[in-house]
Amino acid sequence: MINTNRLRNGARAAAIALGLFSITGILGMAQAQNRPQEVNVFSGRHYNTDKELYAEFTRRTGIKVNLLEGKDDELIQRLKSEGRNSKADLLVLVDAARLYRAQEDNLFRPIRSAELNKDVPANLRDPGGRWFALTRRARPVMVNTAQVNPNLIRTYADLTRPELKGKLCLRNRASVYSQSLVADELVRRGAPSTRRWVEGLVANRKGSFYTSDTTMVRAVGQGQCGATIANQYYLARMLRGDNAADREAAKKVRVVWPNPTHVNVTAGGVTQSSRNPEGARRLLEFLASPTSGEGYAAANNEYPLKGWGNNPTLKAFGTFKSSPVSMEQLGRRNREAVQLMTQAGWQ
Ligand SMILES: [Fe+2]
Repeated sequence: MINTNRLRNGARAAAIALGLFSITGILGMAQAQNRPQEVNVFSGRHYNTDKELYAEFTRRTGIKVNLLEGKDDELIQRLKSEGRNSKADLLVLVDAARLYRAQEDNLFRPIRSAELNKDVPANLRDPGGRWFALTRRARPVMVNTAQVNPNLIRTYADLTRPELKGKLCLRNRASVYSQSLVADELVRRGAPSTRRWVEGLVANRKGSFYTSDTTMVRAVGQGQCGATIANQYYLARMLRGDNAADREAAKKVRVVWPNPTHVNVTAGGVTQSSRNPEGARRLLEFLASPTSGEGYAAANNEYPLKGWGNNPTLKAFGTFKSSPVSMEQLGRRNREAVQLMTQAGWQ
């Protein structure tokens, strides 16, 4: 005999359960929609003006930006060890060498964006869409004119001239700045010429290799070095800074633009672990756009992605012809560059 009561009760229970389920389902969806969106940025940059740009992005989109700053290599290590559990949505790194390492470690997810393809020149982004440049920096020669005639230097190759013997201060091999500079030469001039060039630089150097660009620029200003190769923003920072002694030293430094000049970037990419890749992409598009790109570059006396920007200190340095070598090529030749430097005694 069928117990209709039990059936009825069962149906009622099922209906209640279903009702509850759908109510919680709706509630859950509503919560997801109302929950403010967030993007977690892991960044190798440390400039207060960056935070103003992130705040502007939040005002425009409602997407909150949480910033975690750290040293580039430590951020890469952290993302590698956290894997899929990492909270990072956007990873911002400096220098093609590091971007390439992070790419090889599969930390970035490829994204497609017509806006990024329009705003970021092709040689300044990964062809696979994994990272996109946000600012440019250049690595010119800097000279103390009391010691070295700037007219002697038209290319990086001129730094091996006998007139510069014992006058050249060089950044150490561990620096990605040095590595990318050598990689640039490798792409443009091939291995045999680059090897001779690296040996010539090492032979012309004065004293031991430097571990900081700031110290090298200061040494040129103070006359301890005749010439060096350093990123333009270190000199700009000293010229605009509060330290009077540094300002005086910096005034004695002349920027000489080799033709072509090595250029590198700050770039960002959406992470593999991102739980909000859409929001991360929108932030990347915002930062790379001409309006905010200008501000992002200005924070560190860097150049925007296109043109020269409005920074008066940088304008006074004059303009230069950029190396045509792409950031991706710099990354690909990095290992070879380091090997060559090691063999030539670049410490
Ligand atoms: Fe730097």
